[in-house]
Amino acid sequence: MQPDLSVKIGRLELKNPVMPASGCFGYGEEYEQFYDLGRLGAIVVKGTTAEARPGNPAPRVAETPAGLLNAIGLQNPGTEEARLKIRRLARYGVPVIVNVAGHNTAEYCSVVEALSAETAVAAFEINVSCPNVAEGGLSFGTDPRTVFRLAGELRKLTEKTLIVKLTPNVTDITEIARAAAEAGADALSLINTLLGMAIDTRSRRPLLANLTGGLSGPAVKPVAVRMVWQVAGCVDLPVIGMGGICCANDALEFMLAGASAVAVGTANFSNPLVCPEIIDGLAVYCREQGFSAVRELVGLARRPAAHKAGGTGGCGRK
Ligand SMILES: Cc1cc2nc3c(=O)[nH]c(=O)nc-3n(C[C@H](O)[C@H](O)[C@H](O)COP(=O)(O)O)c2cc1C
Repeated sequence: MQPDLSVKIGRLELKNPVMPASGCFGYGEEYEQFYDLGRLGAIVVKGTTAEARPGNPAPRVAETPAGLLNAIGLQNPGTEEARLKIRRLARYGVPVIVNVAGHNTAEYCSVVEALSAETAVAAFEINVSCPNVAEGGLSFGTDPRTVFRLAGELRKLTEKTLIVKLTPNVTDITEIARAAAEAGADALSLINTLLGMAIDTRSRRPLLANLTGGLSGPAVKPVAVRMVWQVAGCVDLPVIGMGGICCANDALEFMLAGASAVAVGTANFSNPLVCPEIIDGLAVYCREQGFSAVRELVGLARRPAAHKAGGTGGCGRK
């Protein structure tokens, strides 16, 4: 029998828990030639700002051992052009999640306000890793009070599912997660990229024009799994886990740690078929291991027997 792969994220009903991560799938156009995008659980589009932005100067990506550094910046076509691309994606009958970016609260608000009545948009994912210009460029997502205020403002503007996407570049991710939950978020997604840097020893200059960039790919997976474990243990909201997922087994780790769904980013660049492969792999695992529904796996590694020998991590609740 086919296992039931459906999951719920806030008011969103997904036919399976697999979606591409923001910024690694554009608006799906490059992937349509590889497979039917209607197979995906959801589609998360590139970070969208009010107006079009060119992003950072090149070079803006650099490969690292088991990872990728990027400093794309907020390159995107702006809300109105994004709206047309999102409408085009509606043909696949898959929920489209708009990743929202901004340099100040007003910019985030204008994107959510403009797209809130758009029927092709199913949910908003708020990228709080953006630099907050009013706070000297410090990322919104590093201060629980800023996250609380921003998510609270956005909550007032939309009835749609509101997902807050957390940055890993913090000391205690659980306090940021709680702030987002208290402000009314329906779900949390994590992790965004880890701040990193690489230097070219020939030119003796940083590899990225922006000097620093965000690290993603397999190198970050253990950090991401740890953070998903901590957040799922502290906040009673569905979690979308991501960071280095390349195969069904990686996705399973996140679900067993407490994620209800997963997003796949960097792996799409080396294997455009990675998302459908993971969907198939989850079904195979459920069948082989005797689970009739994939949601039965969520948080299973948290059962007392599973961490008898180790610490609880995070706040230890749940
Ligand atoms: C090239 C690139 C662009 C990205 N752009 C965005 C973005 O616009 N908004 C966002 O929230 N995250 C963005 N991310 C972060 C990813 O969505 C994801 O959180 C992160 O890369 C970890 O997952 P991965 O290791 O599977 O790539 C980007 C990542 C990469 C590699």
